[in-house]
Amino acid sequence: MSLSDSIPNNVDLGSDKKLLRALEKWQPDFLKWWLDMGPEGFQNDQIYLRTATSVDPAGWATYDHVKMPDYRWGIFLTPRSEARAIGFGDNKGGKSWDEVPGEMRGILRRIIVTQADTEHASVEQQRLLGKTAPSLFDMRSLFQVNVEEGRHLWAMVHLLHQYFGKDGREEAEELLQRRSGNLDKPRILQTFNEKTEDWLSFFCFTMFTDRDGKFQLAALSESAFDPLARATQFMLTEESFHLFTGETGIERIVQRAAELTKQDKNGDARALGGIDLPTIQKWINFWFSSAVELFGGEVSSNAADYFATGLKGRFREREKYEDHTALEGHYTMNVVAEGRLSTKDVPLRNAMNEVLRDEYVADCERAVRKWNHTIKKAGLAHELFIPKRRFNRSMGMYATMAFSPQGYVITREEFEANREAWLPTAADRAYVNSLMVPCIEQGKIANWISPPKQGVDGKPFDWEYIRFTQVEAE
Ligand SMILES: [Fe+2]
Ligand SMILES: [Fe+2]
Repeated sequence: MSLSDSIPNNVDLGSDKKLLRALEKWQPDFLKWWLDMGPEGFQNDQIYLRTATSVDPAGWATYDHVKMPDYRWGIFLTPRSEARAIGFGDNKGGKSWDEVPGEMRGILRRIIVTQADTEHASVEQQRLLGKTAPSLFDMRSLFQVNVEEGRHLWAMVHLLHQYFGKDGREEAEELLQRRSGNLDKPRILQTFNEKTEDWLSFFCFTMFTDRDGKFQLAALSESAFDPLARATQFMLTEESFHLFTGETGIERIVQRAAELTKQDKNGDARALGGIDLPTIQKWINFWFSSAVELFGGEVSSNAADYFATGLKGRFREREKYEDHTALEGHYTMNVVAEGRLSTKDVPLRNAMNEVLRDEYVADCERAVRKWNHTIKKAGLAHELFIPKRRFNRSMGMYATMAFSPQGYVITREEFEANREAWLPTAADRAYVNSLMVPCIEQGKIANWISPPKQGVDGKPFDWEYIRFTQVEAE
């Protein structure tokens, strides 16, 4: 079977010889990367996965049992019926670009490479988690997320190969050489070098870190560079499953925590083998404060340039805003000045990172309200919360001072004195890790998490989501 047949696509791969040659060269390297750095074990097992085989509603989620190395990583651009005008910035109303304008090459390549680097970095971060899956359902979810992050890499590599010539091909190779957490060749963004060793971290990652991806992709989905806009639009359809996995995963752990807290005579979920609510809060604090860095500097001339040139808009730019030039008006920002927190009016374009971060924070707060509803229904008064974005930062203006999770200015000493109360300690991690034992009997689930409300693709929870090959089933 030729590559153009084995790669589901709507970019006419069969007749684009140059692109086909580039991808034919890259594909074996990708597969080698997948076998080296993708999920450890389980590569011979049959996983019930959805594959995008076309962009229409009937084809974008085709379910079947497949071996992961045989997954058909496809290339799809959301189709567009007519030429699209640039929706915002200085070139608003002009025709969107089908090719990369010369002066935009460097900046666009950087945007695409940075996005691409996160996709499969997360697969590397999650590569051992299959071994401690709390259920077959959850193991399937993990692998679904993993293969789709692989596809997102394909989507970005397609753009590099098709539109950036030799530079693009080199970047595509380097994407397979960097490694999450590697000191010499780390992934570009720090969050993607963090360890994701336990399933609470996995759900926090898909809840908080992938959610950054949602907002970055959404901002790019209206980009003036039309192929990028269309590629990211299609990625968003898959991304929503990742976010759902994270949000409901945490909710299920929260629910179990609340149940066990009620059951234990001292109100201690850990005594009954659960993950207690204060521990969950620490994981939230850690992952949220790490993910929130991904939006970039609070006041940013880069962000202003991206908006001005039409590369990157706000969240739902066309739908939500009336003024698409953002030349007037200010954003009132909490700023750090002379050791104090005060407010300052920043020209709107320079505050675009913060505008996007606001959307992200609001989305996280919506989720935490749901989790709190679950706790309340179980009959407990405990409330989880999303820390203020100033808390525990290592980049941007808030990194110059220390803040409590509630956002109050504190001294570095006060922060350190409370570190163990606010963030996961080695002992917390050891405890959570001690619960990470595999539970892969069909229909069973680990004690520290509740079963999902629904299965996948209309199947029940206790369905055969994974068919193990003989060797591993023994
Ligand atoms: Fe992704
Ligand atoms: Fe994702």
